[in-house]
Amino acid sequence: MQRRALTLALLATPFALQAAEPVKVGFLVKQAEEPWFQDEWKFAEQAAKEKGFTLVKIGIPNGEKTLAAIDNLAAQKAVGFVICAPDVKLGVAINRAAKRHNLKVMSVDDQLVDGAGKPIADIPHMGISGYEIGKQVGAGLLAEIKARGWKLDEVGVLRVAYDQLPTGRDRTMGAADALKAAGMPAANIIDAPQAKTDTESAFNAANIAFTKNAKFKKWVAFGLNDEAALGAVRAGEGRGIKADAMLAIGIGGSQTALNEFTKPTATGFFGTVLISPKRHGYETAVAVFEWATKGKTPPAVTLTSGVLMTRQNQADIRKQMGL
Ligand code: GLA
Repeated sequence: MQRRALTLALLATPFALQAAEPVKVGFLVKQAEEPWFQDEWKFAEQAAKEKGFTLVKIGIPNGEKTLAAIDNLAAQKAVGFVICAPDVKLGVAINRAAKRHNLKVMSVDDQLVDGAGKPIADIPHMGISGYEIGKQVGAGLLAEIKARGWKLDEVGVLRVAYDQLPTGRDRTMGAADALKAAGMPAANIIDAPQAKTDTESAFNAANIAFTKNAKFKKWVAFGLNDEAALGAVRAGEGRGIKADAMLAIGIGGSQTALNEFTKPTATGFFGTVLISPKRHGYETAVAVFEWATKGKTPPAVTLTSGVLMTRQNQADIRKQMGL
């Protein structure tokens, strides 16, 4: 009798060990070096600690690395992953890979689309309300244009554009529409298409646009994120368009914006719409964890909001947002 109990206990041991191994959730981002994504990872890590799972962070700069990362997660026996893909058109391939490995998948920031460009319905998504936040950028620019006493028709409007990404297009169109609604001539709005969503690409795009439109001596600028707005500011500085003639508002509020705000003298980077890496990082990681372990399906789409933050009010606003 005693021996039998011992044998059973020994037999049960490997299973008990296996059950105690922590659940793994992946968090895959397109631009790991960007402060926004560093912040998302930081808050996802916080979620992992609090809820008791292990976070696996992987940078996925291209399609090949994306699919390799999903295979890697499966090999590590992860239960699912959150993803901001380098190209939203990878949606079908990502969905297929996740299903093949029986991994839950949820997108963050950039909603995955199918071959026809339609959002993939069975991949839950959390992103910002792009058009609304773009309108907030536009409203912020208009208020400061007024404060500076600039006339709308003498101002060039630089839209650093990344239109292949729907949220990028929504954000910058929202800003442009707000300006137009207030009387900005449509002809003053200059598109500067960027090849990637980083500062360097925005800098290059802005330089070309400034060269072609030298008649404008005053400029406002915006793009899909802080890096896009900052690239325009740096390009302007290089051409003598300094803080008194440049007004840029970004979207994000991570370190890229904070670095500008803490410089001893104000630059053309006037403000940013602060969005929440905490919600995006923490809530998506928890959602995938609970989906895989408790069968709780996340809501199909969650859109988050933002608040205008400038050099003046940054400390207060960040405190209010729990950052
Ligand atoms: C996109 C942008 C990022 C960031 C997020 C926020 O992914 O490329 O810079 O703005 O959206 O959702």
